Amino acid sequence: MDEGISSTPGLRKSPDDEKSEPRDGNPAPERKNKKKSGLGWIEWLRGWWYVIHEFLFQRIMASHLQNPLPLPPVNELTCIVTGSTSGIGLQIARQLAEAGAHVVMAVRKPRAAQDLIQKWQNEWSGMGLPPNIEVMELDLLSLDSVARFAEAWNARLGPLHVLINNAGIFSIGEPQKISKDGYEEHMQVNHLAPALLSVLLLPSLIRGSPSRIVNVNSVMHYVGFVDEEDMNVVSGRRKYSSLVGYAGSKLAQVMFSSILHKRLPAEAGISVLCVSPGVVSTNVARDLPRFLQAGYHLIPYFIFSPEEGSRSSLFAATDPQVPEYCEMLKSDDWPVCAFISQDCRPTNPSEEAHNLETAYKVWEKTLEMVGLSSDCVERLLDGQEASCRYGAY
Ligand SMILES: NC(=O)c1ccc[n+]([C@@H]2O[C@H](COP(=O)([O-])OP(=O)(O)OC[C@H]3O[C@@H](n4cnc5c(N)ncnc54)[C@H](OP(=O)(O)O)[C@@H]3O)[C@@H](O)[C@H]2O)c1
Repeated sequence: MDEGISSTPGLRKSPDDEKSEPRDGNPAPERKNKKKSGLGWIEWLRGWWYVIHEFLFQRIMASHLQNPLPLPPVNELTCIVTGSTSGIGLQIARQLAEAGAHVVMAVRKPRAAQDLIQKWQNEWSGMGLPPNIEVMELDLLSLDSVARFAEAWNARLGPLHVLINNAGIFSIGEPQKISKDGYEEHMQVNHLAPALLSVLLLPSLIRGSPSRIVNVNSVMHYVGFVDEEDMNVVSGRRKYSSLVGYAGSKLAQVMFSSILHKRLPAEAGISVLCVSPGVVSTNVARDLPRFLQAGYHLIPYFIFSPEEGSRSSLFAATDPQVPEYCEMLKSDDWPVCAFISQDCRPTNPSEEAHNLETAYKVWEKTLEMVGLSSDCVERLLDGQEASCRYGAY
């Protein structure tokens, strides 16, 4: 990287951040002022400006990066990559495995993952040791599946160095869907299930310390809003659309990750990051009408290939300066976790993501929704078990 990650351009605490920040690590006291019911106009317009800016200028902003991104040595790493049968996740898994890491493809279609491994092994033959990849089933639309996955992984008593929460959905234009667990599907797949997975895998991440949790987030979180009393967007206070569902789920992930980052003491050695992959040509547009899908793939200059889109996640997962950078944010009592932009530079997440009062409420509500106790992180750090409503925990 031409610029060190330890320089943090654009990262400045606003006076509001300092006011909203609790000193004792407990939720901030209730404010007397009226509950916010959505983004203000200026925040909303600024959010869309970030989205359009990323779309128009991502290629220029990332012009200093090589493609594929050269990786530091990863032979000692064990990495779990969710949703690695398609798009960005497929590229992350393939590149990590080709660079020598032990990769676990955590996917809902194991057969498709096995076929990919077979193909990669054929392509790789004669070029050294075959890639060390395995497949484990994980369906994020079932919290039971998430808990069982974590149980199976933790039972190995081995280390986990990198968890990449990549799998996600954006059901563009589709009507609201509720999972069998009772949650809006964007919220469940993009936020609740990865949150449960991250917490339940803490024992293995501690064994693998220094380790990392990398959440593949989105610039769309800048236009997101979360009402922790209405995570499913069913109260009628806000009108549901797939955009509201998607953007809200990505913002909830940044908020939850920020509190997890604060709750994990420096000694645990676990870095928590969110990344934006950029605007990437993947199957994410599969729900668009056909003519829009064609248009989406017809603007290749602006849109990243999946290989280009995997760079920020691979950077967050492997760059040697990342843990130090995350520690610096922690020791500065920075209100949010590290957020790496599509050009592999640290940036500030949205203004709303800095709302610590809401972030603590989202943290509590998320733990309640995924069936974990509010002290689960501290219990796991202490080497105790965390009880969970799902799986056999
Ligand atoms: N593409 C973009 O422009 C863009 C921009 C910003 C952020 N992102 C984020 O990047 C991440 C990867 O998306 P992508 O663009 O690579 O899209 P993609 O090609 O659609 O890949 C999504 C992956 O998630 C998996 N998945 C979906 N639902 C799942 C479930 N219930 N359980 C387990 N896995 C599930 C899919 O599995 P199947 O293969 O079985 O369908 C697929 O492997 C997502 O978090 C997305 O929000 C993408």
